[in-house]
Amino acid sequence: MFKKIFAPAAPVQKEESIQPQLKAVPRHIAVIMDGNGRWAKERGKPRTFGHRAGGQNLKTILRCCARLGVEALTAYAFSTENWKRPLTEVDFIMELFASYLDSEVAELDANNVQLRFSGDRSRLAPSLQKKMAAAEASLAHNTGIVLNLAVNYGGRAEIIRAAQKLAAQVKAGELRPEEIDEARFEAELYTAGLPAPDLLIRTGGDLRVSNFLLWQIAYAELWTTQVYWPDFTPQLLEEALLAYQKRDRRYGGLNTKP
Ligand code: FPP
Repeated sequence: MFKKIFAPAAPVQKEESIQPQLKAVPRHIAVIMDGNGRWAKERGKPRTFGHRAGGQNLKTILRCCARLGVEALTAYAFSTENWKRPLTEVDFIMELFASYLDSEVAELDANNVQLRFSGDRSRLAPSLQKKMAAAEASLAHNTGIVLNLAVNYGGRAEIIRAAQKLAAQVKAGELRPEEIDEARFEAELYTAGLPAPDLLIRTGGDLRVSNFLLWQIAYAELWTTQVYWPDFTPQLLEEALLAYQKRDRRYGGLNTKP
C-alpha cells in the first residue's frame, strides 16, 4: 500500500489540485485526531473500535504527507489529560500503540520514515518504553518524513520541562539567564530540530488547541473540519492543503507589495 502512494502522482486534472513542486507545501503538519469515539458510537460500536480505525487512518495520512514532500507529521495520540478516561480505554490505546510499533516499523523503515516521540515516557509501561526506544533506534538512519507521535504529551508540561532544563544549566554555571533565547528554549522541547508546524489540522469539530504544541504552533495556520478522524480522507487533506496555500502568512508583519 505504501508503494502505491509513494509512486509518482497521477497527472493532475483539477486546476486546484495540490502541486507539491509548484506551490507551498507545509514542511510540518500537526494533527489533532479527534472524533474516534463519536465515529464508533455512530456505528453502534465501542469507542475502542474508533481508535483502531483512527490508528489505521494515520497510516494513510502519513503516506499522503510523505508523497507530497511534507517533512514532518506530528500526531496527537495520547495527551497528559487522556489518563482521565476509563482504564479500559486507556489500556486499549496503549495496546494499540504497542501493536502499531510491532507491526509497522518494518514498513516505516522500507519507506525511509523517521520516528520520534513527544511526551513524558516515564509514566508508560516499561515494555512500551522499550518498544519505543527500539523503534526509534531502528529507524534513526532514515532520511524521509518524520512521524512524530505525541504520547503522554501536554504542551504546558513540555514548556515546564524545558524551563527546568534551562534552570538546571544556569544552576550548573553552564548558561547565563540572559543567554536564554528562543533558539535555546526550542532546543529543550521534544520537537528540537524539527521545523515549527506550518499547519495544524483538527478533526471532530471542536475549535481549540487542547494543550497541543503550545509553543510550536505560534504561527501555525489552523484548519478544522467536523469530520471525525477515521473519516479524514486524503481528499480532505488535499482540501486543507489548498486552503493553506491560499493563506497569507504574515508572521506579524506586512506582506504588502512594494
Ligand atoms: C481522540 O478521539 C483520539 C484519541 C484521544 C486517541 C487517538 C489515538 C489514535 C488515533 C490511535 C492510536 C495511535 C497510534 C499511533 C496507533 P476521542 O476519543 O476524543 O473521540 P471523541 O471526541 O469522539 O470522544
